[in-house]
Amino acid sequence: MKIHIKTPQEIEKMRVAGRLASEVLDYITPFVKPGVTTEELDQLCHDYMVNEQNTIPAPLNYAPKGHKPYPKSICTSVNKQVCHGIPGKKRLKDGDIVNIDVTVISNGYHGDTSRMFFAGKPSIQAKRLCELTFEAMWRGIDEIKPGGYLGDIGHTIQKLAENAGFSIVREFCGHGIGVQFHEDPQVLHYGKRGTGVKLEPGMIFTVEPMINAGKAAIRHLPDGWTVTTKDNSLSAQWEHTILVTEHGHEVLTLSAGAPAKPVYRF
Ligand code: MF3
Ligand code: CO
Ligand code: CO
Repeated sequence: MKIHIKTPQEIEKMRVAGRLASEVLDYITPFVKPGVTTEELDQLCHDYMVNEQNTIPAPLNYAPKGHKPYPKSICTSVNKQVCHGIPGKKRLKDGDIVNIDVTVISNGYHGDTSRMFFAGKPSIQAKRLCELTFEAMWRGIDEIKPGGYLGDIGHTIQKLAENAGFSIVREFCGHGIGVQFHEDPQVLHYGKRGTGVKLEPGMIFTVEPMINAGKAAIRHLPDGWTVTTKDNSLSAQWEHTILVTEHGHEVLTLSAGAPAKPVYRF
């Protein structure tokens, strides 16, 4: 474990990167509706990042060990897709739920955030899953403070999801982030309170639970990236990038259009 504690200068760059990533999601929001292809959403985000923000889309050609280079600039995960969905020619239809995951590189530093969107009118179950996952992410974020543990985050998220009859995907987790897209530590979305890494000011990591309406098991598609639920149930995910501060935490991936922390109801 080599968790990099960010300096004040690095934290300032991470604030900028985080805001810019969130602003890409603000920008794309009005385009997410029935009839649009996920490839069109990718092109719009790509051009916004490169031409308007002067940021680099971190996913494009990203090739961690064991993977071929990712071919697009954002991830779009629709319905039963859990994460890393590759934008393509399929059109969104009324009732689809889609996660859009944006990671920008700004001045050498990464900002990583994702939101769920509805194309048209979602089913009652789909809406419930997306809202519960949003609350689960925020309840996890609420646990973040110096002297707390990564296990506190996972425990809180897992409890909320499983009490509702949903399940937590185990194979993917949140991650440290900075100069590298994926740094230590791994931030599990399940676990036990008081276990794992102890939190210190200057740590920066993501919280990004993937919650399935059915069972937790996943399947990998032959495209080498897309992950779906094994039982074809719906899956939802939200993601923020968080700084541990002296007295608590600061959410770095906020912007004018970011949905506010909810009133808890689950
Ligand atoms: N943004 C994703 C995350 O939250 C990672 C996407 S990797 C990619 O960690 F190559 F698929 F883009
Ligand atoms: Co991430
Ligand atoms: Co992400």
